[in-house]
Amino acid sequence: MNVTGSPHVARVPIRWPSEAIWEAVAPSLDGFTVEVFPQIDSTNSELMRRARTGQLAPILLVAERQMAGRGRMGRQWISDHLEPAGHTGNIAPSLVFSLGLPLSPADWSGLSLAVGVSVAQSLHPDLRLKWPNDIWLQDRKLAGILIETGSFDGTRYAVIGVGINVLERGAQGLSTPPAWLAELLPDINASQTLLRVVPQLVNAVKVFEAQGFGPFRQRFAALDALAGRSVTLSEGTFGTAQGVDAIGALLVHTSVGMKTISSSEVSVRPSPGKS
Ligand code: BTN
Repeated sequence: MNVTGSPHVARVPIRWPSEAIWEAVAPSLDGFTVEVFPQIDSTNSELMRRARTGQLAPILLVAERQMAGRGRMGRQWISDHLEPAGHTGNIAPSLVFSLGLPLSPADWSGLSLAVGVSVAQSLHPDLRLKWPNDIWLQDRKLAGILIETGSFDGTRYAVIGVGINVLERGAQGLSTPPAWLAELLPDINASQTLLRVVPQLVNAVKVFEAQGFGPFRQRFAALDALAGRSVTLSEGTFGTAQGVDAIGALLVHTSVGMKTISSSEVSVRPSPGKS
């Protein structure tokens, strides 16, 4: 039994574009390294563990399999779906990685939106963002982002975790139906996806550190999947999404006036049956 669950198929090493990514990123990120793990519990957890032991140099950590991936609001991130029929064990059906780096923006508000803008735009123009940072294709989730931060010996450190469905996947274990990148780019694989996303993401994070959410506001608005739609908030309020404000908080017009939602612990859904 190989690691994908298919009997008698030897797993061929995946060719990750570590060098190309390093060459693109290292000039602007001193001390940057790339590591690939065949298997790990969670790339975010690993970088947070390292940060707690003082390892704060910029790093990209990629995992071919993630056994305990974490999502926002304490959810799981399941990326270990089986490879589609006909593949031979040398592909990763999902891309999971975390970028860890010291980061000290004047204001952290809107970082997750800026990351979402960068990842979506580096992948395909048909992708949209569901506040705060899910990436959607036609109202189905294609990618998720989990950002964790901490202060270690006086250095602020951020771990930006990204999970992208690359190849077709079923809805098992998911609360909403998934989308995958190969729907838009049939020949794409996880390695190519990584190379498309990471250099632009590093650049976006540096722009955010220097200038905050401002440079991303219009770009977010152009991709906003909720704008003008009826939404339901997790605490039960209904309203109409009206875009985001200057620091990336979601504006929702409700029966009792405009609500500004800045907590990423509030989840927002388009209301069923309404546009
Ligand atoms: C969400 O949609 O709730 C966020 C999902 C984030 C998943 C990624 S996969 C790589 C990194 N490691 C994790 O454990 N989570 C993030």
